[in-house]
Amino acid sequence: MNALPTRLLIAPSLLAADFARLGEETVAVQQAGADWLHLDVMDGHFVPNITFGPLVVKALRRHTTMPLDVHLMIAPADPYIAAFAEAGADHISVHPEAGPHLHRTLQLIRSLGKKAGVVLNPATPIETIVNVLDLVDIIMVMTVNPGFGGQAFIASQLTKIAALRRLIDQTGRDIVLQIDGGITPATAPAVLDMGADCLIAGTAVYGAPDYAKAIAALRATRRRRGPDMADGPAG
Ligand code: DX5
Ligand code: ZN
Repeated sequence: MNALPTRLLIAPSLLAADFARLGEETVAVQQAGADWLHLDVMDGHFVPNITFGPLVVKALRRHTTMPLDVHLMIAPADPYIAAFAEAGADHISVHPEAGPHLHRTLQLIRSLGKKAGVVLNPATPIETIVNVLDLVDIIMVMTVNPGFGGQAFIASQLTKIAALRRLIDQTGRDIVLQIDGGITPATAPAVLDMGADCLIAGTAVYGAPDYAKAIAALRATRRRRGPDMADGPAG
């Protein structure tokens, strides 16, 4: 069993919010106890759905002090990264498949003073990122195929999450291991047992009648694992 992280970050995904009220929906999850706001940018080309671009990120920036966690599902990504940085993104995460030069893309994000993330699709192996870990602040594991909210959690990714936890610990660096797709109070415990420290949740938060209760329910899955786990006090 890996040593497990003591932090747990909850990042609601705005994809499941009411798109006619994005500002209010942003404020609501911050008040409900969210740590980061996850923003899914889709281009109808890299993934079969279209959402929003830098203008919406810029508009939301004025409504929250939460870090804006931007998940780019666009190809190419490089031409738009500066625009998302200027719009107020704090973290910019890219899929390796979105361009030919992942190292260059991560350098670009870092050069703009932002935290850089890489996203692994269900079929994407860990080996894709081992040679760029020195440029990575966030590793996101997709537990659905990207493009839509409300899909079923793909449990085969649990072994990948555990292997990434070991890899991150070997680096000795503070890399956040976040999980995206199908996260609910039912699927979160296994994900946390494998060593994840950030849960992205769209439907499980914005689809719930009470956002604070929904976020608390996700946090509580960590506590339910019991005092015998080697990860210190719950929090
Ligand atoms: C899917 C997005 C996810 C999505 C998750 O491509 O990356 O962030 O919002 O939605 P749920 O939590 O409903 O699976
Ligand atoms: Zn996402």
